[in-house]
Amino acid sequence: MSEEKRTMCALVKEENGPGELVYHTDMPIPVPGDEEVLIKVHCSAICGTDVHIIEWDAWSEKRVKAPTIVGHETVGTIVAVGKNVTDRHVGQRVSCESHVHCRECWFCTHGMPHICANLGILGVTQNGAFAEYVAFRADCTFPLDDSVPDEAACMFEPMGAGVHGVEAAEVEGKNVLVSGCGPIGLTAISAAKTFGAKMVVACDLIDDKLETAKAMGADYVFNSGRDDLLAEVKKLTGGVGMDAAIDVTGAGAALNTALKCLRAAGRLVCVGLPTRPVTFPDMADDLIYREIQLTGISGRLVWKTWEDFAKVMAGPYYKLDRVIGGKYAMSDYKAAFEAIHNGAVGKMILYPGR
Ligand SMILES: NC(=O)c1ccc[n+]([C@@H]2O[C@H](COP(=O)([O-])OP(=O)(O)OC[C@H]3O[C@@H](n4cnc5c(N)ncnc54)[C@H](O)[C@@H]3O)[C@@H](O)[C@H]2O)c1
Ligand SMILES: [Zn+2]
Ligand SMILES: [Zn+2]
Repeated sequence: MSEEKRTMCALVKEENGPGELVYHTDMPIPVPGDEEVLIKVHCSAICGTDVHIIEWDAWSEKRVKAPTIVGHETVGTIVAVGKNVTDRHVGQRVSCESHVHCRECWFCTHGMPHICANLGILGVTQNGAFAEYVAFRADCTFPLDDSVPDEAACMFEPMGAGVHGVEAAEVEGKNVLVSGCGPIGLTAISAAKTFGAKMVVACDLIDDKLETAKAMGADYVFNSGRDDLLAEVKKLTGGVGMDAAIDVTGAGAALNTALKCLRAAGRLVCVGLPTRPVTFPDMADDLIYREIQLTGISGRLVWKTWEDFAKVMAGPYYKLDRVIGGKYAMSDYKAAFEAIHNGAVGKMILYPGR
Protein backbone atom coordinates (compact mmCIF):
# COMPACT_ATOMS: atom_id res chain seq x y z
CA MET A 1 0.00 0.00 0.00
CA SER A 2 1.40 3.40 -0.88
CA GLU A 3 2.26 5.65 2.06
CA GLU A 4 -0.10 8.37 0.85
CA LYS A 5 -3.16 6.17 0.46
CA ARG A 6 -5.22 6.55 3.61
CA THR A 7 -8.76 6.47 2.26
CA MET A 8 -10.79 4.02 0.23
CA CYS A 9 -14.13 3.57 -1.49
CA ALA A 10 -16.89 1.65 0.29
CA LEU A 11 -20.62 1.00 0.19
CA VAL A 12 -22.18 1.95 3.51
CA LYS A 13 -25.52 1.27 5.16
CA GLU A 14 -25.70 4.65 6.83
CA GLU A 15 -28.71 4.41 9.11
CA ASN A 16 -30.80 1.77 10.83
CA GLY A 17 -34.02 1.36 8.85
CA PRO A 18 -34.95 0.92 5.19
CA GLY A 19 -32.65 2.86 2.85
CA GLU A 20 -30.17 2.50 -0.01
CA LEU A 21 -26.45 1.97 0.42
CA VAL A 22 -24.28 5.06 -0.03
CA TYR A 23 -21.03 5.05 -2.01
CA HIS A 24 -18.13 6.83 -0.31
CA THR A 25 -14.64 7.44 -1.65
CA ASP A 26 -13.14 8.87 1.53
CA MET A 27 -13.55 6.08 4.09
CA PRO A 28 -10.51 5.43 6.29
CA ILE A 29 -8.61 2.26 5.37
CA PRO A 30 -9.11 -0.09 8.35
CA VAL A 31 -6.17 -0.99 10.58
CA PRO A 32 -6.03 -4.75 11.25
CA GLY A 33 -6.34 -5.85 14.89
CA ASP A 34 -3.78 -8.19 16.46
CA GLU A 35 -5.54 -11.31 15.14
CA GLU A 36 -6.65 -9.81 11.83
CA VAL A 37 -5.32 -9.42 8.34
CA LEU A 38 -5.92 -6.45 6.06
CA ILE A 39 -7.20 -7.62 2.69
CA LYS A 40 -7.11 -5.60 -0.52
CA VAL A 41 -10.41 -6.64 -2.08
CA HIS A 42 -10.35 -7.90 -5.68
CA CYS A 43 -14.11 -8.39 -5.99
CA SER A 44 -17.20 -9.10 -3.88
CA ALA A 45 -20.52 -10.66 -4.84
CA ILE A 46 -23.93 -9.32 -3.87
CA CYS A 47 -26.05 -11.59 -1.65
CA GLY A 48 -29.80 -11.64 -1.01
CA THR A 49 -28.81 -10.66 2.53
CA ASP A 50 -27.44 -7.34 1.22
CA VAL A 51 -30.81 -6.66 -0.39
CA HIS A 52 -32.50 -7.50 2.92
CA ILE A 53 -30.20 -5.08 4.73
CA ILE A 54 -31.26 -2.31 2.32
CA GLU A 55 -34.93 -3.24 2.83
CA TRP A 56 -34.26 -3.64 6.57
CA ASP A 57 -36.06 -6.90 7.30
CA ALA A 58 -36.43 -8.32 10.82
CA TRP A 59 -33.20 -10.32 10.45
CA SER A 60 -31.21 -7.17 9.58
CA GLU A 61 -32.85 -5.13 12.31
CA LYS A 62 -31.61 -7.64 14.91
CA ARG A 63 -28.01 -7.73 13.67
CA VAL A 64 -26.89 -4.66 11.72
CA LYS A 65 -25.81 -1.56 13.59
CA ALA A 66 -25.44 1.24 11.07
CA PRO A 67 -23.25 2.80 9.90
CA THR A 68 -21.73 -0.42 8.53
CA ILE A 69 -19.85 -1.27 5.34
CA VAL A 70 -21.79 -4.25 3.92
CA GLY A 71 -20.63 -7.16 1.71
CA HIS A 72 -19.47 -10.60 2.83
CA GLU A 73 -18.76 -12.71 -0.29
CA THR A 74 -15.27 -11.69 -1.21
CA VAL A 75 -11.73 -12.39 -2.36
CA GLY A 76 -8.56 -10.36 -2.12
CA THR A 77 -4.89 -10.27 -1.26
CA ILE A 78 -3.47 -9.85 2.24
CA VAL A 79 -1.52 -6.58 2.44
CA ALA A 80 -0.87 -6.44 6.22
CA VAL A 81 -1.12 -8.82 9.18
CA GLY A 82 -1.79 -8.18 12.88
CA LYS A 83 0.97 -8.91 15.40
CA ASN A 84 -0.46 -12.27 16.55
CA VAL A 85 -1.01 -13.66 13.06
CA THR A 86 1.45 -16.43 12.27
CA ASP A 87 -0.23 -18.59 9.63
CA ARG A 88 -1.19 -15.98 7.02
CA HIS A 89 1.21 -13.71 5.19
CA VAL A 90 1.33 -10.62 3.03
CA GLY A 91 0.78 -11.45 -0.62
CA GLN A 92 -1.51 -14.45 0.06
CA ARG A 93 -4.80 -14.47 -1.86
CA VAL A 94 -7.73 -15.44 0.36
CA SER A 95 -11.50 -15.74 0.47
CA CYS A 96 -13.44 -15.13 3.70
CA GLU A 97 -15.66 -17.39 5.79
CA SER A 98 -18.19 -14.71 6.62
CA HIS A 99 -19.31 -16.46 9.81
CA VAL A 100 -16.89 -15.39 12.52
CA HIS A 101 -17.06 -18.02 15.27
CA CYS A 102 -16.41 -17.04 18.90
CA ARG A 103 -14.01 -19.96 19.66
CA GLU A 104 -15.47 -20.27 23.19
CA CYS A 105 -19.08 -21.48 23.10
CA TRP A 106 -20.16 -25.13 23.43
CA PHE A 107 -20.39 -25.53 19.63
CA CYS A 108 -17.00 -23.95 18.94
CA THR A 109 -15.37 -26.19 21.55
CA HIS A 110 -17.14 -29.31 20.19
CA GLY A 111 -16.02 -29.12 16.57
CA MET A 112 -19.02 -27.18 15.23
CA PRO A 113 -17.79 -23.59 14.84
CA HIS A 114 -20.11 -23.14 11.82
CA ILE A 115 -23.10 -23.17 14.19
CA CYS A 116 -21.41 -21.08 16.89
CA ALA A 117 -23.88 -19.58 19.36
CA ASN A 118 -22.30 -16.12 19.10
CA LEU A 119 -21.61 -15.78 15.38
CA GLY A 120 -20.36 -12.46 14.08
CA ILE A 121 -20.97 -11.90 10.35
CA LEU A 122 -18.75 -10.00 7.94
CA GLY A 123 -20.60 -7.04 6.45
CA VAL A 124 -23.43 -7.47 8.96
CA THR A 125 -22.17 -7.29 12.55
CA GLN A 126 -18.83 -5.81 11.46
CA ASN A 127 -17.57 -3.79 8.50
CA GLY A 128 -17.52 -5.84 5.32
CA ALA A 129 -16.12 -6.22 1.86
CA PHE A 130 -17.96 -3.79 -0.41
CA ALA A 131 -14.81 -1.71 -0.07
CA GLU A 132 -11.25 -1.47 -1.33
CA TYR A 133 -9.91 -2.92 1.91
CA VAL A 134 -11.35 -5.06 4.70
CA ALA A 135 -9.83 -6.08 8.03
CA PHE A 136 -10.86 -9.62 9.00
CA ARG A 137 -9.90 -12.28 11.54
CA ALA A 138 -7.05 -14.28 10.04
CA ASP A 139 -8.41 -17.69 11.07
CA CYS A 140 -11.59 -17.00 9.09
CA THR A 141 -9.68 -16.55 5.82
CA PHE A 142 -9.21 -19.37 3.32
CA PRO A 143 -5.94 -19.37 1.32
CA LEU A 144 -6.64 -19.94 -2.36
CA ASP A 145 -4.97 -22.00 -4.99
CA ASP A 146 -3.76 -19.96 -7.98
CA SER A 147 -6.01 -22.01 -10.26
CA VAL A 148 -9.18 -20.54 -8.68
CA PRO A 149 -10.21 -17.32 -10.47
CA ASP A 150 -11.32 -14.37 -8.32
CA GLU A 151 -14.91 -14.69 -9.52
CA ALA A 152 -15.01 -18.33 -8.39
CA ALA A 153 -13.26 -17.51 -5.14
CA CYS A 154 -15.94 -15.07 -4.03
CA MET A 155 -18.52 -17.84 -4.65
CA PHE A 156 -17.16 -20.14 -1.91
CA GLU A 157 -19.22 -18.37 0.71
CA PRO A 158 -22.61 -18.08 -1.03
CA MET A 159 -22.60 -21.36 -2.95
CA GLY A 160 -20.94 -23.29 -0.13
CA ALA A 161 -24.37 -23.81 1.45
CA GLY A 162 -25.28 -25.97 -1.55
CA VAL A 163 -22.12 -28.02 -1.17
CA HIS A 164 -22.79 -28.37 2.56
CA GLY A 165 -26.28 -29.64 1.69
CA VAL A 166 -24.70 -32.30 -0.51
CA GLU A 167 -22.30 -33.28 2.29
CA ALA A 168 -25.24 -33.69 4.66
CA ALA A 169 -27.13 -35.81 2.11
CA GLU A 170 -24.16 -38.26 1.82
CA VAL A 171 -24.82 -38.66 -1.89
CA GLU A 172 -22.28 -41.26 -3.02
CA GLY A 173 -24.04 -44.04 -4.92
CA LYS A 174 -27.44 -42.52 -4.23
CA ASN A 175 -30.36 -41.24 -6.27
CA VAL A 176 -30.65 -37.58 -5.30
CA LEU A 177 -33.39 -35.02 -5.90
CA VAL A 178 -32.34 -31.35 -5.93
CA SER A 179 -35.32 -28.99 -5.73
CA GLY A 180 -34.59 -25.44 -6.93
CA CYS A 181 -32.09 -24.51 -9.66
CA GLY A 182 -31.02 -21.05 -8.52
CA PRO A 183 -27.24 -20.52 -8.17
CA ILE A 184 -27.09 -22.54 -4.93
CA GLY A 185 -29.21 -25.39 -6.27
CA LEU A 186 -27.06 -25.53 -9.41
CA THR A 187 -23.98 -25.75 -7.22
CA ALA A 188 -25.61 -28.57 -5.25
CA ILE A 189 -26.33 -30.43 -8.51
CA SER A 190 -22.72 -30.17 -9.67
CA ALA A 191 -21.45 -31.13 -6.19
CA ALA A 192 -23.77 -34.16 -6.01
CA LYS A 193 -22.42 -35.40 -9.35
CA THR A 194 -18.83 -34.65 -8.36
CA PHE A 195 -19.23 -36.66 -5.15
CA GLY A 196 -20.61 -39.74 -6.87
CA ALA A 197 -24.39 -39.51 -6.82
CA LYS A 198 -25.75 -42.31 -9.02
CA MET A 199 -28.55 -40.18 -10.47
CA VAL A 200 -29.43 -36.52 -9.91
CA VAL A 201 -32.99 -35.38 -10.62
CA ALA A 202 -33.54 -31.61 -10.51
CA CYS A 203 -36.73 -29.56 -10.52
CA ASP A 204 -37.65 -25.90 -10.79
CA LEU A 205 -40.57 -23.84 -12.04
CA ILE A 206 -38.57 -22.12 -14.81
CA ASP A 207 -37.52 -24.02 -17.94
CA ASP A 208 -34.36 -21.95 -18.59
CA LYS A 209 -33.06 -22.90 -15.16
CA LEU A 210 -33.70 -26.56 -15.94
CA GLU A 211 -31.54 -26.26 -19.06
CA THR A 212 -28.71 -24.89 -16.93
CA ALA A 213 -29.29 -27.69 -14.42
CA LYS A 214 -28.70 -30.21 -17.20
CA ALA A 215 -25.53 -28.40 -18.25
CA MET A 216 -24.30 -28.63 -14.63
CA GLY A 217 -24.85 -32.35 -14.29
CA ALA A 218 -28.53 -33.13 -13.66
CA ASP A 219 -29.46 -36.46 -15.28
CA TYR A 220 -33.16 -35.64 -15.42
CA VAL A 221 -34.97 -32.31 -14.99
CA PHE A 222 -38.66 -31.62 -14.39
CA ASN A 223 -40.79 -28.53 -14.23
CA SER A 224 -42.62 -28.83 -10.90
CA GLY A 225 -45.37 -26.54 -12.15
CA ARG A 226 -46.13 -28.73 -15.14
CA ASP A 227 -44.80 -32.26 -14.61
CA ASP A 228 -45.94 -34.86 -12.08
CA LEU A 229 -42.59 -35.04 -10.25
CA LEU A 230 -43.65 -37.84 -7.91
CA ALA A 231 -44.82 -40.04 -10.81
CA GLU A 232 -41.60 -39.33 -12.75
CA VAL A 233 -39.42 -40.14 -9.76
CA LYS A 234 -41.30 -43.39 -9.16
CA LYS A 235 -40.75 -44.34 -12.83
CA LEU A 236 -37.03 -43.58 -12.62
CA THR A 237 -36.52 -45.55 -9.40
CA GLY A 238 -38.60 -48.66 -10.12
CA GLY A 239 -41.30 -47.43 -7.73
CA VAL A 240 -38.90 -47.09 -4.77
CA GLY A 241 -38.30 -43.31 -4.54
CA MET A 242 -35.19 -41.17 -4.10
CA ASP A 243 -32.54 -41.98 -1.51
CA ALA A 244 -31.96 -38.34 -0.65
CA ALA A 245 -33.49 -34.95 -1.44
CA ILE A 246 -31.93 -31.51 -1.07
CA ASP A 247 -34.34 -28.60 -0.94
CA VAL A 248 -32.88 -25.35 -2.21
CA THR A 249 -36.21 -23.56 -2.64
CA GLY A 250 -37.49 -23.01 0.90
CA ALA A 251 -40.97 -23.40 -0.65
CA GLY A 252 -43.58 -25.44 1.24
CA ALA A 253 -44.92 -27.05 -1.94
CA ALA A 254 -41.45 -28.20 -3.00
CA LEU A 255 -40.63 -29.51 0.50
CA ASN A 256 -43.82 -31.57 0.67
CA THR A 257 -43.29 -33.02 -2.81
CA ALA A 258 -39.68 -33.85 -1.93
CA LEU A 259 -40.86 -35.76 1.17
CA LYS A 260 -43.22 -37.82 -0.96
CA CYS A 261 -40.50 -38.45 -3.57
CA LEU A 262 -38.18 -39.96 -0.94
CA ARG A 263 -38.11 -43.68 -0.26
CA ALA A 264 -38.69 -44.85 3.32
CA ALA A 265 -35.61 -44.10 5.45
CA GLY A 266 -34.53 -41.46 2.92
CA ARG A 267 -33.10 -38.11 3.97
CA LEU A 268 -34.38 -34.60 3.29
CA VAL A 269 -31.77 -31.87 3.67
CA CYS A 270 -33.18 -28.34 3.92
CA VAL A 271 -30.93 -25.61 2.52
CA GLY A 272 -33.53 -23.10 1.25
CA LEU A 273 -34.80 -20.60 3.81
CA PRO A 274 -38.61 -20.35 3.86
CA THR A 275 -39.93 -16.83 3.58
CA ARG A 276 -43.28 -17.91 5.02
CA PRO A 277 -44.34 -20.65 7.46
CA VAL A 278 -44.11 -24.19 6.06
CA THR A 279 -46.53 -26.95 7.09
CA PHE A 280 -46.33 -30.71 6.51
CA PRO A 281 -50.00 -31.73 6.17
CA ASP A 282 -49.22 -35.46 5.73
CA MET A 283 -46.40 -35.64 8.25
CA ALA A 284 -47.43 -39.00 9.76
CA ASP A 285 -47.48 -40.80 6.41
CA ASP A 286 -44.82 -38.76 4.64
CA LEU A 287 -42.23 -38.62 7.41
CA ILE A 288 -42.91 -40.45 10.65
CA TYR A 289 -44.15 -43.89 9.51
CA ARG A 290 -41.49 -43.94 6.80
CA GLU A 291 -38.63 -43.03 9.14
CA ILE A 292 -37.54 -40.11 6.97
CA GLN A 293 -34.54 -38.19 8.27
CA LEU A 294 -35.06 -34.43 8.17
CA THR A 295 -32.14 -32.04 8.66
CA GLY A 296 -31.14 -28.45 8.05
CA ILE A 297 -27.73 -27.09 7.18
CA SER A 298 -26.30 -23.72 8.08
CA GLY A 299 -23.49 -22.10 6.14
CA ARG A 300 -20.41 -24.14 5.52
CA LEU A 301 -18.27 -26.61 7.48
CA VAL A 302 -14.96 -24.96 8.36
CA TRP A 303 -12.96 -25.93 6.29
CA LYS A 304 -14.35 -29.21 4.94
CA THR A 305 -17.01 -27.59 2.77
CA TRP A 306 -14.43 -25.19 1.35
CA GLU A 307 -12.08 -28.03 0.45
CA ASP A 308 -14.95 -30.03 -1.04
CA PHE A 309 -16.11 -27.03 -3.06
CA ALA A 310 -12.60 -26.57 -4.44
CA LYS A 311 -12.89 -30.14 -5.77
CA VAL A 312 -16.28 -29.33 -7.31
CA MET A 313 -14.86 -26.21 -8.98
CA ALA A 314 -11.98 -28.22 -10.41
CA GLY A 315 -14.32 -30.96 -11.65
CA PRO A 316 -16.26 -31.26 -14.90
CA TYR A 317 -19.73 -30.20 -13.70
CA TYR A 318 -19.35 -26.74 -12.12
CA LYS A 319 -19.81 -23.98 -14.71
CA LEU A 320 -18.72 -20.65 -13.26
CA ASP A 321 -20.06 -18.65 -16.20
CA ARG A 322 -23.53 -20.08 -15.55
CA VAL A 323 -23.68 -18.78 -11.97
CA ILE A 324 -22.32 -15.28 -12.67
CA GLY A 325 -25.12 -12.83 -13.46
CA GLY A 326 -23.09 -9.68 -14.16
CA LYS A 327 -19.89 -7.74 -13.39
CA TYR A 328 -19.97 -4.11 -12.25
CA ALA A 329 -17.60 -1.45 -10.98
CA MET A 330 -18.41 -0.91 -7.28
CA SER A 331 -19.25 2.71 -8.08
CA ASP A 332 -21.91 1.35 -10.46
CA TYR A 333 -23.55 -0.65 -7.67
CA LYS A 334 -26.99 0.85 -8.33
CA ALA A 335 -27.10 -0.84 -11.73
CA ALA A 336 -26.19 -4.18 -10.13
CA PHE A 337 -28.91 -3.91 -7.47
CA GLU A 338 -31.35 -2.76 -10.15
CA ALA A 339 -30.59 -5.90 -12.18
CA ILE A 340 -31.30 -8.05 -9.11
CA HIS A 341 -34.50 -6.14 -8.50
CA ASN A 342 -35.55 -6.84 -12.08
CA GLY A 343 -35.08 -10.58 -11.57
CA ALA A 344 -31.71 -11.10 -13.29
CA VAL A 345 -30.40 -14.63 -12.83
CA GLY A 346 -27.01 -15.36 -11.22
CA LYS A 347 -24.60 -13.56 -8.92
CA MET A 348 -23.68 -9.90 -9.46
CA ILE A 349 -20.02 -9.14 -8.81
CA LEU A 350 -18.66 -5.73 -7.74
CA TYR A 351 -15.08 -4.57 -8.38
CA PRO A 352 -13.85 -1.82 -6.03
CA GLY A 353 -11.67 1.03 -7.20
CA ARG A 354 -13.07 1.02 -10.72
N1 LIG B 1 -29.02 -22.73 4.78
C1 LIG B 1 -28.11 -21.81 4.51
O1 LIG B 1 -27.09 -21.67 5.18
C2 LIG B 1 -28.30 -20.91 3.33
C3 LIG B 1 -27.26 -20.06 2.91
C4 LIG B 1 -27.47 -19.25 1.80
C5 LIG B 1 -28.68 -19.28 1.14
N2 LIG B 1 -29.69 -20.10 1.58
C6 LIG B 1 -30.99 -20.19 0.88
O2 LIG B 1 -30.86 -21.05 -0.22
C7 LIG B 1 -31.95 -20.80 -1.11
C8 LIG B 1 -31.48 -20.82 -2.55
O3 LIG B 1 -30.67 -19.72 -2.83
P1 LIG B 1 -30.51 -19.23 -4.35
O4 LIG B 1 -29.64 -18.04 -4.33
O5 LIG B 1 -30.16 -20.37 -5.24
O6 LIG B 1 -32.03 -18.75 -4.58
P2 LIG B 1 -32.94 -18.62 -5.86
O7 LIG B 1 -34.13 -17.86 -5.43
O8 LIG B 1 -32.14 -18.14 -7.02
O9 LIG B 1 -33.36 -20.14 -6.16
C9 LIG B 1 -34.52 -20.75 -5.72
C10 LIG B 1 -35.10 -21.55 -6.89
O10 LIG B 1 -36.20 -22.32 -6.43
C11 LIG B 1 -37.18 -22.34 -7.45
N3 LIG B 1 -38.47 -22.67 -6.83
C12 LIG B 1 -39.27 -21.91 -6.04
N4 LIG B 1 -40.35 -22.59 -5.68
C13 LIG B 1 -40.26 -23.80 -6.24
C14 LIG B 1 -41.09 -24.96 -6.25
N5 LIG B 1 -42.23 -24.99 -5.59
N6 LIG B 1 -40.66 -26.05 -6.93
C15 LIG B 1 -39.49 -26.04 -7.62
N7 LIG B 1 -38.67 -24.97 -7.65
C16 LIG B 1 -39.06 -23.87 -6.98
C17 LIG B 1 -37.12 -20.92 -8.03
O11 LIG B 1 -37.67 -20.86 -9.34
C18 LIG B 1 -35.62 -20.64 -8.02
O12 LIG B 1 -35.00 -20.99 -9.25
C19 LIG B 1 -32.57 -19.50 -0.64
O13 LIG B 1 -33.75 -19.81 0.07
C20 LIG B 1 -31.52 -18.93 0.29
O14 LIG B 1 -32.08 -18.09 1.26
C21 LIG B 1 -29.50 -20.91 2.64
ZN1 LIG C 1 -24.36 -14.20 1.37
ZN1 LIG D 1 -18.83 -20.06 19.34
